[in-house]
Amino acid sequence: MPDLSINFCGVRSPNPFWLASGPPTNTGYQVMKAFDAGWGGAVWKTIGEPIINTASRYGSIDYKNERMIGLNNIELISDRPMETNFREISEVKKRFPQNTVIASLMVESKRETWHEIVRRAQDSGADLLELNFGCPHGMSERGMGAAVGQVPEYTTLITGWVKEVATIPVIVKLTPNVTDVAHMAWAARQGAADAVSLVNTFNSIVGVDLDTLAPRPSVGGYGSHGGYCGPSVKPIALHMVSSVAKHPKVGIPISGIGGAGNWRDAVEFMLLGATSVQVCTAAMHYGFRIVEDMIDGLAQYLDEKRLNSAMDLVGRSAERIRDWGDLDLNYKIVARIDPELCIGCNLCYIACEDGAHQCITAAERPRGDLRDGEIAKHVPRILEDECVGCNLCALVCPVPGCITMQQIDTGRPNMSWRELQEARGRSPQCNVEDLLTKGTAAGD
Ligand SMILES: Cc1cc2nc3c(=O)[nH]c(=O)nc-3n(C[C@H](O)[C@H](O)[C@H](O)COP(=O)(O)O)c2cc1C
Ligand code: SF4
Ligand code: SF4
Repeated sequence: MPDLSINFCGVRSPNPFWLASGPPTNTGYQVMKAFDAGWGGAVWKTIGEPIINTASRYGSIDYKNERMIGLNNIELISDRPMETNFREISEVKKRFPQNTVIASLMVESKRETWHEIVRRAQDSGADLLELNFGCPHGMSERGMGAAVGQVPEYTTLITGWVKEVATIPVIVKLTPNVTDVAHMAWAARQGAADAVSLVNTFNSIVGVDLDTLAPRPSVGGYGSHGGYCGPSVKPIALHMVSSVAKHPKVGIPISGIGGAGNWRDAVEFMLLGATSVQVCTAAMHYGFRIVEDMIDGLAQYLDEKRLNSAMDLVGRSAERIRDWGDLDLNYKIVARIDPELCIGCNLCYIACEDGAHQCITAAERPRGDLRDGEIAKHVPRILEDECVGCNLCALVCPVPGCITMQQIDTGRPNMSWRELQEARGRSPQCNVEDLLTKGTAAGD
């Protein structure tokens, strides 16, 4: 059995699966139940001056038969007294000393107020602190959450205040609602953060009811922008984690968050640079027991890959994310159709004809009833010389494995755009200053 435990800033966690700060980590009862189910760690629902929430607070996006592919909320931080939260953290740590408890904190931007809550969180026995600089709604109007995390100077300053008194490692939780999240990670690092976690939720309005004209979720017919998360944000979160992991100056552990719901998602986050992976929406949707499959799946995957430890996954694919200008322009693939599998639906033809490069020919539609088995299917034909290898037909084809992309040996050596520009004696870098002053980029 491979070792699933991780070392996060010197804190050992039984596995990389942590519950993210949110409704599933609101109480000691829930966190203990989650640890019993197998979660390695839990980031407590953000603690601060207790707030009053609205009803309703959640809205979601369904897609076809799939419920809640995206979840939007206008919920604030914990509405329970601070002393209750800290007392329950102590109780959880006593019962589960091996599991990782992270106290998520948010208070007004005053040095003494931060010092006080940090001391109380440490006294409770929490293993790590997470500074919530990411909440994009409600709290940000009060000068907290994303109002801090969107300004690099504030992020550095408040992280620095926390580090003045912190005796346990400090994670800064970043908002994705910025132009360059890696720059914000760097700002946290400059404040001496020990780690970053990302992402918090995305600014969003999830929809408008066409009958009542009220936005969703509605509070007496009115709404407010909220934070969006769940499976549909995973690709954006993966990119953000990757951009922080690759930033040359950040260099601190990452806890990846955003749309993870199974072991595969978690492994992707880890391969791109996350040491732990936090989950909120999937636990709200399916309950704590999803972690059982996550643990089994991860153990099996490590076995298959002949890796001894979950830590071996961290950042393993990071260097495979490159600048576009470093990709091989001479790598060629073309689409091939398996006529045995093809059901003659023509979706690939339509996609290539209208949405790509017009290199699939539709066979003449046969007369008669296909169900008789007498009429030949009309299998489209790929014009390989024209095919640019964009993948679209394979993406739309409803039959798994029917269209595959096959590599063609062009006999040409690797050549990236950067190398091509250099061979042409041109700069691979677009000079923005030249663009602004002369209206043209250097090398054009
Ligand atoms: C209803 C709800 C409440 C949340 N409350 C908090 C919070 O109090 N503090 C915090 O840092 N993040 C909070 N989050 C954000 C999550 O911790 C997480 O960053 C986000 O949901 C993305 O993960 P997911 O796609 O797995 O849900 C909340 C999310 C949801 C859905
Ligand atoms: S890969 Fe793209 S270009 Fe080639 S056949 Fe399919 S849709 Fe057309
Ligand atoms: S989309 Fe797939 S199944 Fe449909 S015609 Fe094309 S190859 Fe055949």
